[in-house]
Amino acid sequence: MKYTLKVLRKAPGEEKQYWQDFEYESESENDTVASALLKIGEVKWECSCLQKKCGACAMVIDNIPRLACDTKLSDCKSETITVQPLRKFPVISDLVVDRSILYRNLETMKTWLSQDADFGDANPDKYRELAYQGSECIQCGCCLEVCPNFYPGGSFFGMASVPLTMRLLSETDRKLYMDNAKLYRKHIYSGCGKSLACKDICPRKIDTEKLLVNLNALAVWKRKKK
Ligand code: SF4
Ligand code: SF4
Ligand code: FES
Repeated sequence: MKYTLKVLRKAPGEEKQYWQDFEYESESENDTVASALLKIGEVKWECSCLQKKCGACAMVIDNIPRLACDTKLSDCKSETITVQPLRKFPVISDLVVDRSILYRNLETMKTWLSQDADFGDANPDKYRELAYQGSECIQCGCCLEVCPNFYPGGSFFGMASVPLTMRLLSETDRKLYMDNAKLYRKHIYSGCGKSLACKDICPRKIDTEKLLVNLNALAVWKRKKK
């Protein structure tokens, strides 16, 4: 099967982006956009695991943010496939974007614990399960692409900061818990429009709605007693 990959490219240090077509002959119906980019060779992009586990290969394929290693060419709607870098981050080169704002936001959210995790008076099994789901987040940024309220540098941090934030609500130190809940209210709760576009797009199938509902409850009205 022959495919044309229309790639939106940019040379490092240049402002201007331009489209370039690459022909690719696929020999297997399991070939992915990542396999094609690897064979083409010329285009700059990021990958590490090729198994949907690192998030590095997130890009916009046929106008949908996805992981290149998880997008089969045979599942695309036609033999001509458009491939663009994520649009909410500065483009470094071709499909490589600078997602460092994601990590800076996580630093602001203080997603580390001062002591062992403890869900206090909340239902421990339920919250353990939610924390486990949160740990599935690979920081790919696909959810931010479709989020109507996220833009880099804004006070709303978007869904990519939520799954790991689950940890801070199992904080046992009372003062740190209150500080963390305050950060959650400022950077997540008050900016999220609950449109749940993030839920449909997440390549790890994280139930973002469930995380939001439970974190909102813990951070906004259901104070832990400990
Ligand atoms: S629910 Fe909507 S506003 Fe909130 S994080 Fe998801 S996409 Fe963004
Ligand atoms: S919530 Fe899903 S889409 Fe968003 S960064 Fe995490 S894994 Fe990616
Ligand atoms: S290369 Fe790791 S998720 Fe695609």
